[in-house]
Amino acid sequence: MCGIVGYIGREKAIPKILNSLKFLEYRGYDSSGIAYVKDNHINIIKEIGKIKCLEKIVDTMVDSKIGLGHTRWATHGIPSVKNSHPHQVGKFTVVHNGIIENYLSIKNELIKNNIEFNSDTDTEVIPALLDYYYKKDKNILNVIKKTISRLKGSYAVGIICEDDINHLYAFRCGSPLIIAKDDSGYYLASDVPAILSFTNKYILLDEKEIAVLSKNDCEVFSLNLDKIHKKINIFEGTQETIMLNGYEHYMLKEIHEESKVFLDTLNYYVKENKFKDTMINFKKYNKIHIVGCGSAYYVGLIGEYLISEFANIEVTCEVASEYRYKKVFYDKKTLVIIISQSGETADSLAALRMAKENHIDTLAIVNVVGSSISREADYTLYVKAGPEIAVATTKAFLAQVTLISLLAVKLSNKLELLREFNGLEKHIEYLLNLDYNEYAETIYKHENTFFIGRLIDYALCLEGALKLKETSYINALAIASGELKHGTISLINENVPVIGICTKKDMMSKTISNLKEVKARCAYTIFITNEDIQDDFYDKKIIIPKVHDIVSPIITVIPLQLIAYYVAKKRGCDIDKPRNLAKSVTVE
Ligand code: F6R
Repeated sequence: MCGIVGYIGREKAIPKILNSLKFLEYRGYDSSGIAYVKDNHINIIKEIGKIKCLEKIVDTMVDSKIGLGHTRWATHGIPSVKNSHPHQVGKFTVVHNGIIENYLSIKNELIKNNIEFNSDTDTEVIPALLDYYYKKDKNILNVIKKTISRLKGSYAVGIICEDDINHLYAFRCGSPLIIAKDDSGYYLASDVPAILSFTNKYILLDEKEIAVLSKNDCEVFSLNLDKIHKKINIFEGTQETIMLNGYEHYMLKEIHEESKVFLDTLNYYVKENKFKDTMINFKKYNKIHIVGCGSAYYVGLIGEYLISEFANIEVTCEVASEYRYKKVFYDKKTLVIIISQSGETADSLAALRMAKENHIDTLAIVNVVGSSISREADYTLYVKAGPEIAVATTKAFLAQVTLISLLAVKLSNKLELLREFNGLEKHIEYLLNLDYNEYAETIYKHENTFFIGRLIDYALCLEGALKLKETSYINALAIASGELKHGTISLINENVPVIGICTKKDMMSKTISNLKEVKARCAYTIFITNEDIQDDFYDKKIIIPKVHDIVSPIITVIPLQLIAYYVAKKRGCDIDKPRNLAKSVTVE
């Protein structure tokens, strides 16, 4: 949450910083700010709202060759100019992504030392500590080291010191930070898309490493201030990958990339119905715990059904924010799978670390290459979704479902199931090209929508409901159909559309009778199924292609994503950046 950028070099910093910030807006967009050096003086401009609001008040012609930028998702203190970054105390100007958990005790201590604070943020303690230590020791690296030793929590920080305006300083712990270089100079950013307009070469800063950037050089130090040699990574995609390319929204564009994403993920692990070396050869596990947050958790639920059914292994799936605080029973043959698009989600990372502390094997299913979860897990399997910009995940979800289905095949050893993946891209294309407006039309005027289904279809209901909730602000509820009668059916009336999902033959009669029950109570019903059943228990029907159970969730999610998209569009919502959300949840 929050995006940070920095630039130092031979070209004008402000246009570059604004450009980079726009590509980080998915991380938070309630306010933003920029700091730049002009005539040896640090200027700060901040504004509430999206980057376009900041853009209106910043003079891009200013000839400054060094600067920092920030786009905020508020945690401590409301969105306001006062609370937006950069924050300045004394000689130090700072942008920060993350949360300083012990900021209150530091703040109180510094207040006793007559240091003044001007915001409600946790961040302000960082420049305050830097300035406090700098008064005693003018070596900035020493000062940063001391500051890091005081901070608890997660942080990626960019710094300009008024006494050293030819350098940008940066350090991180928990929150991501990359350094990039082009012919004009050096960049600092929370994520790769921010620098792709300038370069595709970058280095990943590791935990508690400190970077010092000048226009000609970048040095990285360990916390002991030993110099470190860093590996240069090359981002495989192009700027095209992160542009709208004619689509009205990233969400729609990303949904329409799904057949490619499916094929890229499949072909990375499978060739001619055999697993390639890119797939891990697992040892035998007795138990699997799958952990994730939000949609990644729902992928986990799909994995739970598929792996237990096809590989005959006991699988449980938990949301990471619960799992990390629960009493968990591991044995030596337990595998913990962490699913995360960003690879930076704080709760998922904590769950991974918990498993590692218990000496349990961990496997990460991640989209963002080099992210914290991918680096810390014992094994990592990447999905090939490419950068996902819309806050609501779609193509990464489909890629994760593809991979967890492949994992179920791998763990089951029933390699003949790999054939079921062949040609699925045609079904994906078919579903992408249906017209979903007629379904959206029946939902968008209502304030509630229910999704009902059983087993794996229930997991899809959860995803469908989340997608609708977050993009259109409709109160959407997913219910395991069998639970309807235990209370929730009291909410059904003619104003509550119900979407019933059934792709499993053995559940068909059950789900149909649940749909009949809600229809009898005047609900408007939409039936999503792979059987062409003619009856009057549904008002509208979406027939999805009949495929094997092992691949069925991969295609069934598509109508749900597109219905959410078109409903949100009809309601005039800010589809790619829904209110109160941010894509990468690096705080607890
Ligand atoms: C929903 C959505 C979120 C994420 C969740 C986990 O559309 O995008 O629910 O799935 O925040 O994020 P990652 O996968 O990055 O760990």
